[in-house]
Amino acid sequence: MGEPESEPVRKIHMNIVIIGHVDSGKSTTTGHLIYQCGGLEPRLLEKLEAAASSFKFAWVLDKLKVERERGITIDISLWKFHTRRFSITIIDAPGHRDFIKNMLTGTSQADAAVLMVSAAPGEFEAGVSRQGQTREHALLAYTLGVKQLLLCVNKMDLTEPPYSQRRFEEVVRGVSLYLRRIGYSPAAVPCVPVSGWAGENWSACCGDYGLSTVSSDLLFPCLLPGIGTVPVGKIETGILKPGMNISFAPSNLSAEVRTIEMHHEPLQVAFPGYNVGFNIKNIAVKNLRRGHVAGNSRSDPPVIILNHPGFIKAGYSPVVDCHTAHVTCQFAELFEKIDRRSGEKLEDNPSVLKSGDSATATKIFNFISGRFAARDLKQTVAVGVIKSVEKKPVGVTRKQAQKALLIK
Ligand code: GTP
Ligand code: MG
Repeated sequence: MGEPESEPVRKIHMNIVIIGHVDSGKSTTTGHLIYQCGGLEPRLLEKLEAAASSFKFAWVLDKLKVERERGITIDISLWKFHTRRFSITIIDAPGHRDFIKNMLTGTSQADAAVLMVSAAPGEFEAGVSRQGQTREHALLAYTLGVKQLLLCVNKMDLTEPPYSQRRFEEVVRGVSLYLRRIGYSPAAVPCVPVSGWAGENWSACCGDYGLSTVSSDLLFPCLLPGIGTVPVGKIETGILKPGMNISFAPSNLSAEVRTIEMHHEPLQVAFPGYNVGFNIKNIAVKNLRRGHVAGNSRSDPPVIILNHPGFIKAGYSPVVDCHTAHVTCQFAELFEKIDRRSGEKLEDNPSVLKSGDSATATKIFNFISGRFAARDLKQTVAVGVIKSVEKKPVGVTRKQAQKALLIK
């Protein structure tokens, strides 16, 4: 539910994404927490209680038929909590590598992440193996700018013996090693042993937030029918108000914001961090795509574009994930191979870059950005930061703009 109109203090809004290897218990832990906090509609509660399946708590979030049949999360689901000081949106992400682009969509909207790691025999080991998602998810979260991380060591009821402190410490040591390599400071990452299934040790997870009531309104799907076009997304900077004129990149289409909603509640103003849907006139749904960015058309319309370090070769075409966009892009030119730590130039126009190398390159993206991840063959092959941004001249087609930039 929304905050009361008379709420004197604006609560801090936080988006927390739950990430980690497939089957580590992300949905179960989150679903059980929602269940215990009284956040379920009676109808859903009855269904859950009737289901003898070990996935019953996961089903709070895994609502699609195919998700329930396969016993895995496929798309993200969002759930809103209120605490005394915070208004929190939990984003339950899929662990299965086939759906990593949905995980990236969730993570790109997050301010903090919970990395779920199973302590069950063999499962921790599978998660941190080359094929596992523990390391990859942590790397992607870091790359996408999620600096606050909590490590949740789950399935403690399945360790040998159950709730083994030795196993907990082994998992924490193992994960911390990778976290340090990625760039996180393990000392700043709280580690909590839990059993999402048994509901053990919740208080350690949520006590600090003074978790109280939970609302049961789900946010998805993105587009609400019948009331024009309703793009959804996170406010990165500035504020959004009804009546504002906004334009979208890269399409350059403009529209007036009619109404704004968060969790089905109307808002008069939306601040950074809010996940909102807003109603606009005159732009058809088909002209807007995932990854488009909206900005104030009068003061500083959104821009398009480029320049990033990576480790690949010229002409390489991975999929690039930026905010909620997932597009194929070609790395057109490699300018300089650079030293990762000092940033000094090592080589001009390198033909090939190996794993671990860094370089500056040019590519035109059709969306604005900051951090990105490039993937190929279902693996994350490069991560980087967009170093500079060039505005697309108004009235120039994308092809022309691309050419102009490449000649430079
Ligand atoms: P994906 O979203 O598909 O990546 O999986 P997930 O991380 O959401 O895992 P999910 O919650 O679907 O749980 C997978 C299985 O592990 C289910 O059968 C759960 O009942 C089981 N499980 C999750 N947490 C625990 C736990 O703490 N203890 C035990 N014994 N089983 C658990
Ligand atoms: Mg799940």
